[in-house]
Amino acid sequence: MIELEAVKPGDIEHAASLLRAGRLVAIPTETVYGLAANASNPAAIEKIFAAKQRPIGHPLIVHLSDPERIHQWVDRLPDPVWPLVKKYWPGPLTILLPKKSGVSDFITGGQPGVALRMPAHPVALETIRLLGGEIVAPSANPYGRISPTSASHVLREMAGRIDAVLDGGDCAVGIESTILDLTGDVPTIARPGQIGRSELEDFLGMSFADHAPAGRAIPGNVKHHYQPVTPTIGVAPEHFSEALPEVTANAGRTGAIWWRSLPPDSAVAESIRLGDNPDDYARMLYTAMHTMDQAELARIVIELPPKSEPWLAIHDRLGRACNVLDTVTR
Ligand code: TXA
Ligand code: MG
Repeated sequence: MIELEAVKPGDIEHAASLLRAGRLVAIPTETVYGLAANASNPAAIEKIFAAKQRPIGHPLIVHLSDPERIHQWVDRLPDPVWPLVKKYWPGPLTILLPKKSGVSDFITGGQPGVALRMPAHPVALETIRLLGGEIVAPSANPYGRISPTSASHVLREMAGRIDAVLDGGDCAVGIESTILDLTGDVPTIARPGQIGRSELEDFLGMSFADHAPAGRAIPGNVKHHYQPVTPTIGVAPEHFSEALPEVTANAGRTGAIWWRSLPPDSAVAESIRLGDNPDDYARMLYTAMHTMDQAELARIVIELPPKSEPWLAIHDRLGRACNVLDTVTR
């Protein structure tokens, strides 16, 4: 695997030429690193599933560098699309739209919609522009594991399985994009992210449905995901000071990820504070999990953040990362 640096002349062009040749390149986006393949090359897309060990049938997000290219993927644009694109693109908002006939089932997993996003990272945009067409890019991690927010995370987990990683620094958002589903009569949030539901409802002047229509479970949107290898326990803040010393005493080397306070008698082997600002917390969350996972711990204990709306996307990820939630182990 080649390590390319986005600041080195010619390296983004090199990444684009690898993509053109049907190879896999991990690229930075503002959310997490994506594992890019040329969206018009089915053989290249197939390699993504092998490299990630991701089940075939899980749909992939198409990444564009020019909003006008939406027309390559979608015939009928619901009214909210252009206002959303004008306000939020480039940025961490993926829009799920009724796909044009002919869009490969390899990309959509046989779903009726295609997911489109214009990333805000200049290196991602330049790579797509130089390729001269769209890329598909899931997060650049092995299936079910923590998404990467730096080139070193990608190197550690994907070396030998992909052709190159293009280093564009640490991701500014740190969790995956919000997915807004506009394929039904009423919009729904298919995956929460930094751009929240009420912000989008206010902007569009409409209320969203709480769930996608019945029978529209999306492969890939699974309960266990974003998981560290080390067993990870999420604990409500009111139980944290009681639970942490118990886990440390019973399980052995324990790491704590906390936001409010670390009990003085906790005797943890590692501790990382993520603070009480949701944007900062999100930016550092996966890095904290990767760091803990490298520290040869028996357990990771996470003090769960508040339950209010700004923390919703973080709760979603923690809910999938933790093996036991809200429970005091004995
Ligand atoms: O921030 C992000 O969105 C990152 C960066 C790399 O852009 N990408 C990302 O991709 O998170 P991935 O594959 O790890 O997660 C995309 C999720 C899938 O698990 C699936 O649930 C949903 O998006 N999805 C994609 N295409 C879809 C489609 N056509 N219909 C329904 N859901 C879709
Ligand atoms: Mg992913």
